[in-house]
Amino acid sequence: MKKTVLVSGGAGYIGSHVTVELLQAGYEVVVADNMSNCDSTCFEGVRKITGRDDLKLNIVDFCDKARVEELFSEYKMDALIHFAAFKAVGESVADPLKYYGNNLESFVNVIGAAHRHGLHNILFSSSATVYGQVEDLPVTEKTPRLPATSPYGNTKQICEDILRDCTSAYKDIKGIALRYFNPIGAHPSALIGELPRGVPNNLVPFITQTAVGKRECLSIFGNDYPTPDGTCLRDYIDIVDLAKAHVAAVSRMLDGKMEADYEIFNVGTGRPVSVQELVDTFEKVNGLKLNCKIAPRRDGDVTAIWADTALAGEKLGWKATRELSDTLKSAWEWEKHIAGK
Ligand code: WQD
Repeated sequence: MKKTVLVSGGAGYIGSHVTVELLQAGYEVVVADNMSNCDSTCFEGVRKITGRDDLKLNIVDFCDKARVEELFSEYKMDALIHFAAFKAVGESVADPLKYYGNNLESFVNVIGAAHRHGLHNILFSSSATVYGQVEDLPVTEKTPRLPATSPYGNTKQICEDILRDCTSAYKDIKGIALRYFNPIGAHPSALIGELPRGVPNNLVPFITQTAVGKRECLSIFGNDYPTPDGTCLRDYIDIVDLAKAHVAAVSRMLDGKMEADYEIFNVGTGRPVSVQELVDTFEKVNGLKLNCKIAPRRDGDVTAIWADTALAGEKLGWKATRELSDTLKSAWEWEKHIAGK
């Protein structure tokens, strides 16, 4: 009997890539999303990639307790992956109540429903942002979390603590938090990818939108950091590699392989890449020249962060495999696809 996984926020960038990998790994998937931050492009792409025209998109706002209860009464599910959250750092600073309200209430609701309906395995979409501005790099899962640098990051820290405390109090619940570094790229089919609403906050969609002519010029936020080329260092993880890490984590839970009630894993490549290096690689592999300029530093940016990925390798049997060049090619193919080119 196939195991069923609920993917909340399943129509979004990461949720859609994870749904593809779960289906292709033999799981059944319940896709639920309130469509507040995406349209149905990626969901339709998931159906095409997997050939699952029967896959249903359940419209669910996870802040709506009654609707969440309905969903859990309609489907018997064995695990859930919670993506449904707002994720724009800058917006969270401008409107913290929107972030604390949505990101915390939705998670409390979904854990409560899981507990009431005998769903024992919860995977939380966390973020490297929970580490804050760390000095000692690369970060391991034992690196202490510093005070969050934004309300968005704080909601990730608080949700990790909610999951930790629930797995400790409710013996039937097990939890894993995956701390993503910087997810980038798109599925090789170019049928799903990142579709930011409005002006992209993140580097790679801004690059691809500049390349396709949707944005005038890419601003590189600061080249006076204490790094080899003066630009910030990040750990850019390919979205398909990231999605496969979720399948490995769900399997660990469902196959009873967990060694504690609550586990945390870094999901990165372990390879720091600078903004300038990423821009140069994008230009080289796609044979184009980007219009870009050096701009002042962006508030809240950390100089550098990248992952120690040993634990995910050892316990999940997972590691990132895709080359940055292939990832940046996939990002460009996706941008051209949505631009109809
Ligand atoms: C990366 C680097 C920028 C845009 C955030 C969240 C994280 C995750 C990913 C949400 C930085 C530089 C960017 C631009 C630039 N979650 N940059 N010009 O800030 O590392 O992480 O997004 O999606 O939790 O914290 O990602 O892509 O915004 O920035 O120079 O137009 O690119 O200064 O050094 P970040 P990012």
